[in-house]
Amino acid sequence: MIVGVPREIKNHEYRVGMVPAGVYALVQAGHKVLVQAGAGLGSGILDEDFEKAGATLVASAPEVYGQADMIVKVKEPLPAEYGLIRKGQIVYTYFHYAASRELTEAMIKTGAVTIAYETMEDAKRTLPLLTPMSEVAGRMSIQEGAKYLERPTEGRGILLGGVPGVEPGNVVIIGGGVVGTNAAKMAAGIGARVTILDVSLDRLRYLDDVLPPNVTELYSNAYNIRECIRQADLVVGAVLIPGAKAPSLIRREDLQHMKQGAVIVDVAIDQGGCVETAKPTTHANPTYIVDGVVHYCVANMPGAVGRTSTFALTNATSRFAVEIARHGWKNAAKAFGEVRTGLNIVDGKIVYKAVAEAFGMEYTPLEKVL
Ligand SMILES: NC(=O)c1ccc[n+]([C@@H]2O[C@H](COP(=O)([O-])OP(=O)(O)OC[C@H]3O[C@@H](n4cnc5c(N)ncnc54)[C@H](O)[C@@H]3O)[C@@H](O)[C@H]2O)c1
Repeated sequence: MIVGVPREIKNHEYRVGMVPAGVYALVQAGHKVLVQAGAGLGSGILDEDFEKAGATLVASAPEVYGQADMIVKVKEPLPAEYGLIRKGQIVYTYFHYAASRELTEAMIKTGAVTIAYETMEDAKRTLPLLTPMSEVAGRMSIQEGAKYLERPTEGRGILLGGVPGVEPGNVVIIGGGVVGTNAAKMAAGIGARVTILDVSLDRLRYLDDVLPPNVTELYSNAYNIRECIRQADLVVGAVLIPGAKAPSLIRREDLQHMKQGAVIVDVAIDQGGCVETAKPTTHANPTYIVDGVVHYCVANMPGAVGRTSTFALTNATSRFAVEIARHGWKNAAKAFGEVRTGLNIVDGKIVYKAVAEAFGMEYTPLEKVL
């Protein structure tokens, strides 16, 4: 199979769909890998690194799309890429279809086989291709929060870890899943006083077992959230109700009880945010202030740490790229639940129910195309 890796063209997207190790694995298995020149630069991977791993470099995206049987990338195709995708071509990337009717209609029109990272499920019913990005965003939330707590960026002027003789900062994390746990580890590690809230008692028990003593696990309800955020220097929003909009757990009127210059990092912004006053921001302009509280609501946080994110993502995606190339998409889907659950639109048909439901479009059961 010819596998193509184009350069990402989304604004401030520094990741790339494959690293030299992935190229090497595919080439060793007898496939050909075309990499667009410059595709890895945002992640610190040079063209010659790809070449040494066995890739063939090509100059332009049309050359990658024109020759490849399977495209491996990171973000959803943009309008400039729609016309490059052809019938029967496999496109393996994040799509987030439910967020865009335009993209859904465009991919139906191409007749391509689209395999979406975000819906791929393993036997434990977790989402192994989403988890690495939640790990990145969770750890990054503390780094960003610490930065915006500094006075020049209009924060309270707090060093989260404190120093001998001065108390540390208070970090409140709402949601104790992948994002929340990673945020808690980072905040605890730099010496902050951390409180993590979740509605799952089982999850709180687990967190109590694995997190250090400067983390307090607390049941999440309106009263506890209100009490916690009054003391908070940094609040991290990390809740998820799968498939649904995030619940508004901090309301506008709560902000007036928070400390001036406190920071909210609402990681859940990609699902609408768990803070009423949250609205999506970008890396170019990540924060704004409401009632004296700094809001950081970047919807693609991992993009800023492109190198780490590229390696974290491809650690999870490469294995299946190799299997799809080896077996073809149909047999790979039959053999691997992850590939099967990743199929969203195939040959102009929507085969993933939630996507069809999101737009009231026709749903075709997957079995009909396999
Ligand atoms: N902004 C970004 O760049 C970025 C990057 C990665 C992930 N995310 C988002 O971060 C969010 C969290 O992702 P995750 O992987 O940690 O999800 P997860 O499913 O691992 O964890 C979510 C947790 O929220 C808890 N929860 C649900 N309702 C709650 C409530 N009312 N109070 C407290 N806890 C509650 C759940 O019990 C669960 O433990 C998602 O919306 C995800 O899409 C954003």
